[in-house]
Amino acid sequence: MADLQGRRILLGVTGGIAAYKSADLVRRLKDAGADVRVVMTRGAMEFVRPLTFQAVSGQPVHDSLLDPQAEAAMGHIELARWADVVLLAPATADALARVAHGLADDLLTTICLATEAPLAVAPAMNRVMWAHRATQDNLAVLRRRGVHVFGPGAGDQACGEVGAGRMLEPMELVQAVAGLFSEPLLQGVSVLITAGPTREPIDPVRYITNRSSGKMGFAVAQAAAAAGARVSLVAGPCALPTPPGVERVDVETAQEMLDAVTARAGEAQIFVASAAVADYRLAQVAASKLKKSRDIMHLELVRNPDILGTVAGMPNPPFTVGFAAETDNMRAYAEDKRRGKGLDMIAANWVGRPGTGFDADENALEVLWEGGGASLGPAGKLQVARELIRLVAQRYHDRVQV
Ligand code: PMT
Repeated sequence: MADLQGRRILLGVTGGIAAYKSADLVRRLKDAGADVRVVMTRGAMEFVRPLTFQAVSGQPVHDSLLDPQAEAAMGHIELARWADVVLLAPATADALARVAHGLADDLLTTICLATEAPLAVAPAMNRVMWAHRATQDNLAVLRRRGVHVFGPGAGDQACGEVGAGRMLEPMELVQAVAGLFSEPLLQGVSVLITAGPTREPIDPVRYITNRSSGKMGFAVAQAAAAAGARVSLVAGPCALPTPPGVERVDVETAQEMLDAVTARAGEAQIFVASAAVADYRLAQVAASKLKKSRDIMHLELVRNPDILGTVAGMPNPPFTVGFAAETDNMRAYAEDKRRGKGLDMIAANWVGRPGTGFDADENALEVLWEGGGASLGPAGKLQVARELIRLVAQRYHDRVQV
C-alpha cells in the first residue's frame, strides 16, 4: 500500500463527469495516511455536491476566492502554503488551459499560482478534446514548468466514445502521488533494524520488560523502505502492523534478538538499533510458576548481550546507528555511547518525559556523528524517522565514497 502518512494533499476538483470518482480518491488518499483538503470549481459543483467531499474528507470544502469567512479560516494563501502537493483530479481541458495560461480568477487557479508545492494534474476529457492541438500545447507548457501529468487512461468514455482521456483510477492516482514523495535515497541498500522492547521471562507467566511500543523503530523501517531500501525489521513484542515492503522477524528475548540480528548483520549495509533491549535477564528462569510464599523475593539478574556493540565490533561492520534513551545529560551520555561502542551515528532522545520517547506518537532526536550533529523534531515519529533516514543516507553514501 502507498505511504502518504502525514502528507498534506490539496485536491482540486474541476467540472468533469469524472468528478464523481474524486470522492473515492479522497477516501483512498486518507486510507494511505494523507490529510486531504478539497477545493471545488463552480463547474465541479454541477456534478457533485460539496457535502459529499466534506463527508469523505472530514473537512470543509473550499470553493470561493472572495468568501470573507473562508478567508478568515483558511484563505487561499494559507491553503497554497499548507499543501505538500496540489492535485487537480479531474483536470478538464478548460482547467489545463487556465493553469497553463496563469489565470487566477477563481480559488483553484489562484492556489495553483500561489503554491510552491508540486502541482499534478489528472486529465479527464473526451478523446477528441484530449488529442486537440490546443490541449496538447497546454500540456507541453505545463510539463515544461515541472507539472506532473498523471494519465489519462484509455477505454470507454462517459460520452459513449472509446479512446484516451479517462481519468486514472483512484488507486492509480494514490500510487502516483506517493511516487512524488519517495526519494530513492537508499535504493537497493540493505538495512537491518531492531525495534520494540525485549521480554525476559521470570517464570512461565511473568517477565521483565520496558515501555517501548516499537513505534519509533517501525517508523524508521517504514521510512527506510520508502527510500528504496531492502529492510529487515527484528521486532520485540509489539502490536504494530508491519510497514509495507518490510521483512519482519518477531523475537521475544534479547538473546533471540541477538541471534536474529547476527544471522542477518553480515548482509546488512546499514544497521539501526532502535530497540529498547532489556539490559538484564534472569540468571535462572523458573520452570514453574513462582509461589508468593515469601514477603520479599530476590531475583538474580545477569547482563544481556550488547547487540549494538556486537554488530559495531564485527570485522566489517555495517554503517551502524545506535539510539540513546536518556533522562539527563542527554548529549554527553549519547556521545559517550557513540564513542564507546564505535558507532557511525547515534540518535539520542529524552525518555521519562510526557509526549516524547517511549510509547509517545511524537519524538525529538539529537543526532550525533564524528564532527557533526543535527536536531530533528519534535514531530510525529514517522516524520522524524524520514529525517533520520535522510541523514543516515547522506553519511552512509559519504562513507561508501571514501
Ligand atoms: O518504541 P517506542 O515506544 O517508540 O520508543 C522509542 C525508544 C525511546 C525506545 C527509542 O527511541 C530509543 O531510544 N531506543 C533505544 C532505547 C535504549 O535501549 O537505549 P539505551 O541508551 O539503553 O541503549 C543504547 C543503544 O544500545 C540502543 O541503540 C539499544 O538498542 C542498544 N542496546 C542496548 C542494550 C543491549 N543489550 N543491546 C543493545 O543493542
